[in-house]
Amino acid sequence: MPHDPLTRRAFSAAVLSTPLLLKAKPSSTEARVKIDTERVIGEIDPKIYGNFTEMLGRCVDGGIFDPGNSLSDSEGYRTDVLKAAEGLRVSLLRWPGGNFSSNYNWRDGIGPRGERPARVEMAWGTVEPNRFGTHEFLRYCELLKTEPYLCANLGTGSWDEAQQWVEYCNYPGETATTRLREKNGRQQPWSVKYWGLGNEMDGPWQMGHRSAEDYGKFALEAAKLMKWTDPSIKLIAAGSSNYAADWTGWNRTVLQYLNHHADYLSMHMYVGNRDNNYYEFLASSLELAERTKIAEGIIRDALRDTPKHPIYIAWDEWNVWYRARGEGKEKGRRILEEQYNLEDAVVVATFLNAFLNHAHIVKIANLAQLVNVIAPIFTSETGLFLQTIYYPLQLFANNSFGTALDLFVESPGYASKSFDSVPYLDVSAAHDNGTLVVNLVNRHLTDKLAVTLELEDKKFAGAFEVATVNGPDIKAQNTFGSSPVKIENSHTEASGARLRYELPPHSYTMLKGKLSG
Ligand code: AHR
Repeated sequence: MPHDPLTRRAFSAAVLSTPLLLKAKPSSTEARVKIDTERVIGEIDPKIYGNFTEMLGRCVDGGIFDPGNSLSDSEGYRTDVLKAAEGLRVSLLRWPGGNFSSNYNWRDGIGPRGERPARVEMAWGTVEPNRFGTHEFLRYCELLKTEPYLCANLGTGSWDEAQQWVEYCNYPGETATTRLREKNGRQQPWSVKYWGLGNEMDGPWQMGHRSAEDYGKFALEAAKLMKWTDPSIKLIAAGSSNYAADWTGWNRTVLQYLNHHADYLSMHMYVGNRDNNYYEFLASSLELAERTKIAEGIIRDALRDTPKHPIYIAWDEWNVWYRARGEGKEKGRRILEEQYNLEDAVVVATFLNAFLNHAHIVKIANLAQLVNVIAPIFTSETGLFLQTIYYPLQLFANNSFGTALDLFVESPGYASKSFDSVPYLDVSAAHDNGTLVVNLVNRHLTDKLAVTLELEDKKFAGAFEVATVNGPDIKAQNTFGSSPVKIENSHTEASGARLRYELPPHSYTMLKGKLSG
């Protein structure tokens, strides 16, 4: 996909990658970032640090929930997993799928556990015992202190099912459905705010897959009933996930129907390094940025007659995922158990940078998924370890808040198959109450990159914290008992308006400190 050659970031990198200008300053190992705290992209919504727990493999069952395990509490939740998840400050948790949601009847997952029906689960080819349902999920959200996001079944499901799930969870009055909730032990409504209008409805792999027209019409009727039951809910329309098809056309058509009812347009993106081409893989986030910009344009167009009603983008599934695709030797519950390496972690950092750099329009993002299934946390029956991708997510989610800043970036770069200029330096910055956080990725495989931060309107007010995610080589993986990829913490002196810092090759570094003036 072609990029916009006129964007400032792309232009600087393109110029600097020409052989002639490489001789000029800055040299190929130098980069500059100008920072002006008044040049704001948008408010960073903490919901971009969301996550996802699908009823799939060992994510829920054997992941967050494992009754009878000695590491679980009296309600069956794994306490070590909960603690690791707390480290990610998960702001929003999506459930029950994913593909699973397209054949899920929420009524199967309520009531006494022993009486719940086991069902054929066609998304992942298994049997779902339904011992974990709405009450168990919403209780987990309370324990994790996160906001729930329920994805309704708009595949095989009906308008009634979707409407009554909202009623069951949120309706304050007395009805047959809310009496059932009380009978099942929950007096007060939960007031679940975020509701998905189906999952990946553009994919032929989806149960109940429809054309954009058919989905748009069907989702509109569901949306009306859901919002009439609880007008305070926010609805997330199923936008593009199938980029092999006419994905822009899908979004345009869906928004023609849902522009008055949807609050977010969901998009999904998974990337991988199938042909072991490091530099192509490291350029993936440029494609994410491109798709974000295109979707933003489609949203703007769809809102031309409804200007008071914003629609934001929800990247509610994103990650590196290409090895464990649920094929071949993967069997039973041990599916999609991707093992991550350092280069994956660096790509994850570039995706988080892209969310910050589009903070005005990207207001939700959910890493897929939380535990075991393409996840930053990996368990056995007796413990867990943190995968490489845990660390960039942890640093962003605990530090990058406030406003995202519009940076001037000058960096050497390289050409990829789809982009003329991929800067070696990938960067975002957050400013919150006098605290500046700069997220710096050095995409270079072998060379250090010296970055000079130049403050336009403030001064550095003392030492800056440095946190670096790196490891011995790009293929290094963590496992039980060994974590070659982790966060290294240090400090760097900072005064005046300039800070020069040398980034190691293939790394992500967070600089954080106070500004004055
Ligand atoms: O996250 C794994 C799967 O990827 C989800 O179930 C689906 O929505 C996507 O295709």
